[in-house]
Amino acid sequence: MTFKSLEMSRVGAGSLRAIEIGVTSRCNFRCDYCGAYDLLERKILSVEDVANVIDTLPDLQRVKLSGGEVLLEFDICEGIVQYCTSKGIETQINSNGTVLDEEKFERLEAAGLSVLHFSLNHTDAASHSAFYRVTEKMFSKIVTAISRAVASPSIDTVVETILFDETESRMAQVHRFAADLGVRKHEIQMEIPSVHQGYENTLDSDRICTAIADLIEHRDPRTTLFFSCLSAYLRPGSAGWKRLQPLFRDPGVIYASCIEGKAQLHLHSNGDVMICELGNPDVIGNVFETDMLTMYEESPKLKAFVQSKHEDQTFSCFRHFDKPGQKVANPGGVALLGMPTLVARPASE
Ligand SMILES: C[S@@+](CC[C@H](N)C(=O)[O-])C[C@H]1O[C@@H](n2cnc3c(N)ncnc32)[C@H](O)[C@@H]1O
Ligand code: SF4
Repeated sequence: MTFKSLEMSRVGAGSLRAIEIGVTSRCNFRCDYCGAYDLLERKILSVEDVANVIDTLPDLQRVKLSGGEVLLEFDICEGIVQYCTSKGIETQINSNGTVLDEEKFERLEAAGLSVLHFSLNHTDAASHSAFYRVTEKMFSKIVTAISRAVASPSIDTVVETILFDETESRMAQVHRFAADLGVRKHEIQMEIPSVHQGYENTLDSDRICTAIADLIEHRDPRTTLFFSCLSAYLRPGSAGWKRLQPLFRDPGVIYASCIEGKAQLHLHSNGDVMICELGNPDVIGNVFETDMLTMYEESPKLKAFVQSKHEDQTFSCFRHFDKPGQKVANPGGVALLGMPTLVARPASE
């Protein structure tokens, strides 16, 4: 199994092959676009709690740790990675890259981590600092972390850039910057409307297609592009779809399918299980009350979700609204991306 191999195969529902674990939703950043930081968490999962969940999932192939900035809980991340490695399960950590140092890299390598995935939306410290409202030193920490990961003999490095109004005009520039650092896997993430930015989409299909076409034209041939959540924006048969389809014949350009709720679920730090942390944070149960496999196999909410999100040979756990900036008009009729209603952990825990 390699990075995104599940998203690259035609995965249907029926087997829970991947979980994402929000080890913590605490974060040292406050990205305007993000709906995943500082969610309610009364207690965080221990390594043993996670191991108990993993042991109930016979088809599990991949565990991704993504919060919040999960590396703020480094020991728990390390313990989960060690446990997964001992079971032959691949692991990925998503990080903003600002809290790693040499000792932590060596511990993650020793634990058997498969993939480190970094967010990168800028190419210079000044614009990074202005956009995120953080000191300029943060940018050099991120660049150092990416370079160190690239040099790792065992960890695979992925850089992710969100396609939104901030990056739209310089996707190729960010791509080249990452490729020059030695990155060979660049994930392009479509913007997911989220609570902190008022559920607004910043780009319409035309602007998205133009940015993607320009990026593909300037792709570094040593680096593969993976496009995530594109199915939320481009319906088969639409003008945008027809325009981009030929560009996706290039073997270095990968269309990654949405597997949320079908082959992957998100486990929040208090035990709640969500369909997708960002795209559809609906809670379907809590692992301290029901085991995850039972939830996956029997939840009526999950079954209804999977059916309702299949459309014209495509599937997406959320849908881009028809017009940029359009607010949800009919919350009952679309996947409303609200803050998850977290189930309180039982007092005895
Ligand atoms: C929620 S973050 C957690 C990991 C880590 N703190 C980071 O920033 O990489 C995981 C990924 O979600 C992406 N993300 C956050 N909000 C998003 C949004 N509204 N649309 C698309 N991607 C988003 C981030 O860029 C990041 O790559
Ligand atoms: S995207 Fe990552 S770094 Fe930014 S606020 Fe969300 S969790 Fe924190």
